Amino acid sequence: MSERVTNSVDFYQGNNPQDLIRQYGSPLYVYNERVFREKCKTMKTLCPYSGFRVNYAIKANSNLTLMAIALEEGLKADVSSAGEIVAALAAGYKADDLFFIANNISEDEMKFAIDKNVILSVDSLSQLETYGRINRGGKIAVRFNTGIGGGHHEKVVTGGDDTKFGILTAYVPEVKALLSKYELQLVGINHHIGSQFAQELYIDGVVTLLNIAREFDTLEFVDFGGGFYIPYHKQDGEKAFDLKPVGKSLAEHMQKFSAQYGKELVCMIEPGRFIAAECGVLLGTVHAVKKLGAVNYAGTDMGFSVFARPTLYDSHHDVEVYRDGEITGAEVLVNIVGNQCESGDYIANKRLLPPLKERDVLGVLDTGAYGFSMSSQYNHRQRPAEVLIRVDGSVKLIRRRETYEEMLVNMQGL
Ligand code: LLP
Repeated sequence: MSERVTNSVDFYQGNNPQDLIRQYGSPLYVYNERVFREKCKTMKTLCPYSGFRVNYAIKANSNLTLMAIALEEGLKADVSSAGEIVAALAAGYKADDLFFIANNISEDEMKFAIDKNVILSVDSLSQLETYGRINRGGKIAVRFNTGIGGGHHEKVVTGGDDTKFGILTAYVPEVKALLSKYELQLVGINHHIGSQFAQELYIDGVVTLLNIAREFDTLEFVDFGGGFYIPYHKQDGEKAFDLKPVGKSLAEHMQKFSAQYGKELVCMIEPGRFIAAECGVLLGTVHAVKKLGAVNYAGTDMGFSVFARPTLYDSHHDVEVYRDGEITGAEVLVNIVGNQCESGDYIANKRLLPPLKERDVLGVLDTGAYGFSMSSQYNHRQRPAEVLIRVDGSVKLIRRRETYEEMLVNMQGL
């Protein structure tokens, strides 16, 4: 029986996935508040260092309700655009709670952050120069690229020469020159080496970034980025990684560093996936089954406009089957695909599942991060609704599905 992963954490808390689809439509993102809060707490208590601060990377999931819960749990936020600043402020965050990690932004977007009093990190000498020109004497942070990078796919590695991010360590003298030219105060340095990598790499990154921190004497914080690993292969028995040693080691490095630096700096991390991924299941419906040669296909309403990770990165997500009647029959290999007009449109390939039927509901697990936030209106399909299973088991609609009329509203005819 394939329901064991969600049962093991009582994900639905007495709610039936088919009923959720009947009530809120298909496809549907379902989040569990208890799981989300647990992940916030795990991160909040990760590192026994007094200046430890967790910034939730809201790019992973910027639903207002989830952002507000993270704030309630004591997290701050990492934002990556002016739009995310607007969203985070709407969720209740204060300017001080936000750190804007910018990449190739316009002068207007910089000015927006400056006007809102949100501290900004720039990641090229060129953007540092622009910032200095428009905000002489201001406070600024700089993102470095220390050459250390890792990730679940080459497209999410963010350290090293082959990525577009950060200022290489060799340019520290040029950074210093621009700081002094524009009388800027460098309040923080940061990096983010990638997502979902072997966790020992995180500490390599910490050591390397702290070495750069020694070059500057005005710092108030150091930010080591996100990237914490979550187990996507739970049906194969994959367990969560024990992050406590990482937290302990981070604290030791910070304490040692502070003693030498002569001041206790704030130590920030920016988990996105770790906080949001496991609280989410994407529910969708099988509308067609067929066989092409030896290959079984189950055609669903979960195209890559709804969930892009498999198409973009060949990401694995466990799939569960829900049916009103009994789920019977010997397991067969099946490709679960979407309804979009591209061959790359798939959710899972070669999965061993009982023979699927029309109207079966499928649950795609661990989709709370980079699920809705990367969805689109490709093929003029509506983005899904989102519901939250509250701690008491009740279900709350936290984003209604958009209408076709709303999708046309900003366009004019000839
Ligand atoms: N901080 C910065 C500066 C980032 O660029 C990111 C992610 C994070 C924090 C959070 O990383 P996390 O803890 O979630 O791994 N769409 C991809 C992931 C790309 C993440 C980009 N930056 C995916 O679905 O795997």
